Amino acid sequence: MKNQFYFRRLWDQRYQSEDHLAEYDGWLDDFLRDFYPGQRLLEVAIGSGPNLCVYTRLNPADIYGCDFSETALTLASQKKSGINLFFHDISEPFEFDNAYFSVIVADLCLHYFTRRVTQRIIDELFRLLGAGGKIFLRVNMVGDFDSCFGQGDEIEENVFQNNENIKAFFSPESLCGYFKQWRKIRVEPNYTEKYGKPKQCLMAVFGKS
Ligand SMILES: C[S@@+](CC[C@H](N)C(=O)[O-])C[C@H]1O[C@@H](n2cnc3c(N)ncnc32)[C@H](O)[C@@H]1O
Repeated sequence: MKNQFYFRRLWDQRYQSEDHLAEYDGWLDDFLRDFYPGQRLLEVAIGSGPNLCVYTRLNPADIYGCDFSETALTLASQKKSGINLFFHDISEPFEFDNAYFSVIVADLCLHYFTRRVTQRIIDELFRLLGAGGKIFLRVNMVGDFDSCFGQGDEIEENVFQNNENIKAFFSPESLCGYFKQWRKIRVEPNYTEKYGKPKQCLMAVFGKS
């Protein structure tokens, strides 16, 4: 079994080879009014920071972003100054108090884990979010062969391990299964080419009552 050190190095290499240098692709355009001044926002696994251009109305000091690739964090820091970027493995607990954030973004990053770890991460994000807060996310969708659906060993239902990493794929129903203690606001298919090739994924918004 490959360890987190291996995966970190893999992501560093991808960013160094400009493999994952994405631009914002409009996936949050229906929700721009949800990003307003006074909020404290956390983007987990922020990558090179393609979504940072959405948070223009927030005070940069209220924007937090983490990743376990140092290269990604350096690239994100070049996109927007004054924000709080920090190294963190999202499969581990965060050091923030309960309800520290009012909005969380998790773009194409909650699908690299087994089901047990995925649930643990989502429960931790629930803890970090205050009442009335929302999470905006995208994940791999079941049947997306462009994203290697079905390739490798199926270690759990719709979770595949290949030579590189673990990739989990979600249906609307299986995604909602992880968010039982949340309020469902929107779950729908989403198409993106942000990494230069077609990708059919699921976008979702859940709220904390
Ligand atoms: C497909 S990229 C998405 C990046 C960014 N959210 C975007 O939309 O462009 C996946 C990101 O997840 C990060 N990542 C993967 N596993 C992680 C982990 N356990 N902890 C923190 N970051 C992780 C990678 O470094 C990479 O930046």
